Amino acid sequence: MKIYDLRSDTITKPDEGMRKAMYTAEVGDDVYHEDPTVNRLEEMAAEITGKEKAIFVTSGSMGNLIPAIINCGRGNELLIDYRGHMIHYELASVSSIAGALPVSIVTDDGILTPELLKGKVQPDIYYMARTRMIVVENTHNLAGGTFYERQNLAQIASFAEEHSLKVHMDGARLFNAVVASDMKASEIASYVDTVTFCLSKGLGAPVGAVLCGESAFIDEARRVRKMLGGGMRQAGVLAAAGIYALENNIDRIKEDHEKASMIAASLSQTEWAEIDTKAVKTNIVYFKTENPDNIVNLLRENGILCGKAGDDSIRMVTHLNISIEDTKEVCGIIENIRV
Ligand SMILES: Cc1ncc(COP(=O)(O)O)c(C=O)c1O
Repeated sequence: MKIYDLRSDTITKPDEGMRKAMYTAEVGDDVYHEDPTVNRLEEMAAEITGKEKAIFVTSGSMGNLIPAIINCGRGNELLIDYRGHMIHYELASVSSIAGALPVSIVTDDGILTPELLKGKVQPDIYYMARTRMIVVENTHNLAGGTFYERQNLAQIASFAEEHSLKVHMDGARLFNAVVASDMKASEIASYVDTVTFCLSKGLGAPVGAVLCGESAFIDEARRVRKMLGGGMRQAGVLAAAGIYALENNIDRIKEDHEKASMIAASLSQTEWAEIDTKAVKTNIVYFKTENPDNIVNLLRENGILCGKAGDDSIRMVTHLNISIEDTKEVCGIIENIRV
């Protein structure tokens, strides 16, 4: 039986071209700044996001933790949507390592607005913690792959300026946001101080993320990365996969969004899934169902892997290892499942 793995866009495996790029990569010791392939990846990332500099980090989690350490630090606060990845899936590193307090903001769709942030910035009183940073997650994982429109970003940027706050974008899926919003990565990033994007999700590389920002910030990030144990040596073999991904796998992300819409349409035709197809904006599909354990098992028995997401919902994520043809098969299976 063919298996269609829709648990996450992190499960993709490098293709021949990417493996070849890794195999032939020129390398050096990156802690000495001597790995030409890592240097090239960092230059490319800075150019794509329009930032002065970039740094290759081990993971999206590290790329989010470093700004929390540098911008917030112990005893200070950051504002973040209550379903933020940094709150739920990064082992509370924002508090346990950075020492910062994440203040959860309730949103409908994961998108922060000045109205929601108003009143959450602490006043300048000696017994109150200082609010230092806003985190925007773009696209937003737990909120269903939602993305920031230009106007949202501009409003957050002016709110941050007014209150002297830094803005960090958890852009693990930045390029999904690029495709969905029809904005360039550099335009999106122009509204924030720092952005981390993952190479190992929609872009299909096996490892890593890149944190981009101003030169002085990235120089500091290099120190913090080393402190966290993230100083890598001949990392060019990994960076080469990232370069290949940036050169070959950005435009194809729009296909992932089409596949997600196809799956959502099929789910909407079943009796066991409740879904608002219009809410599916990028490559992440959430649907409600009465007994998610049962449905996950039934789907697995029919070759579809997906993940329970809470007591009444399931998540499916499209990616580069599921083709349009595969998606048609997945849709057929979904439509034929009776509960
Ligand atoms: C929105 C978001 N941010 C950050 C991360 C963390 O990435 P990593 O698994 O590389 O640490 C993920 C991973 O799924 C994510 O979905």
